[in-house]
Amino acid sequence: MGKDQTSSRINLFTESIIREMTRINNMHDGINLAQGFPDFDPPRELIDAAKAALDDGYNQYAITWGSPRLREALAEKFGWYNGVTVDPNKHITVACGGTEAMVSTMLAVIDPGDEVIIFEPFYENYGPDTLLSQGTPVYVQLYQQGDSFTFDPDELRRAFSKKTKAIVINTPHNPTGKVYSYDELKIIGDLCQEYDALAITDEPYEHILFDGDVHHSIASLPGMGTRTITVNSLSKTYSVTGWRIGWAIALDEKITTGIRRAHDFVTVGAAAPLQEAAAVALRFPKSYYEELAQGYAVRRDTMLSILGEMGFDYITPRGAYYVMTRYPDCGYDDDNEFSMFLSSKIGVTPVPGRAFYHDPKMGKPYIRFAFPKRPETFAKVRERLSKLASYRR
Ligand SMILES: Cc1ncc(COP(=O)(O)O)c(C=O)c1O
Repeated sequence: MGKDQTSSRINLFTESIIREMTRINNMHDGINLAQGFPDFDPPRELIDAAKAALDDGYNQYAITWGSPRLREALAEKFGWYNGVTVDPNKHITVACGGTEAMVSTMLAVIDPGDEVIIFEPFYENYGPDTLLSQGTPVYVQLYQQGDSFTFDPDELRRAFSKKTKAIVINTPHNPTGKVYSYDELKIIGDLCQEYDALAITDEPYEHILFDGDVHHSIASLPGMGTRTITVNSLSKTYSVTGWRIGWAIALDEKITTGIRRAHDFVTVGAAAPLQEAAAVALRFPKSYYEELAQGYAVRRDTMLSILGEMGFDYITPRGAYYVMTRYPDCGYDDDNEFSMFLSSKIGVTPVPGRAFYHDPKMGKPYIRFAFPKRPETFAKVRERLSKLASYRR
């Protein structure tokens, strides 16, 4: 073997634990409650729109930063739902999923040595995205307070410095289900303005809200319009995680130019026919989003009732489609060992808590389940998890 030819940057992180758990699940023929994807179909109209786009000749490259129809539909929806007026020609970049929109954004705005504040626990891509962009992640804890999570404003202030380039927000939050309040976003926005920093906000679960909670976009807060990059995606709201359509919206035109430049050389563009179908999705009536949230409230309650019955000490999510939970004593006091046991012996696969922390020790007490599933799947999960009783200590 010759010397290690990989870059020092690529060795700063490992493969995704979440996606690895899907592979482990498949080895055990388990029920995959690890990676967050629906096991039900997207709306019929969307599939028909995608088929029509293929028949109508949308089979070559779209404009690099997104089909005009999709960008217009995105601008309309960002106006009525997020409360921000955007120009589809100047402010929007369509990318291959929120995943690519996020990394293209970071590549566009981060210089070597810049610091990026990330609330922890965090969706695991933000760490590697920052490192690939040669930035330095600075972690700020979200503390559990009863059934909600919040940060300490003084601790957040201490994390900001002259080196801070951006802060990453994710609301509703994966993995905890936290929904950031207006007041919390105001604190973050004020610090961004004081320290001349950007807010990069990831909002793929913006319509999955429970118990009357409301989604706020930091882009709509006073002074934050041109300081914010909003990343979002078709994946969760329209149940099409495999379509790989996402976008970044930045009102600062220089930032949009930078994101488009990074995106152009990373992927050229997202699938053209699916972008046409996405434009149909973005124009669904408001009732679609209400029904989506109602459907997820039922799924959340089903998942929580199963976990309650089986002795899990869970944290009730306010939004998104995950539940973070402590696990019952079956002889394992390690998130990874418990997850492997659950996958191999019980046939239900979660994500070990370490996937959401920069220091694996911090995730040790937790695992995460995804619940975008059909009633039949929940019935099987209940049946399989009931086997835990014979392992309980
Ligand atoms: C918080 C968060 N951001 C981004 C993504 C990635 O979404 P996409 O499918 O649009 O790449 C996910 C997927 O699970 C997520 O949970």
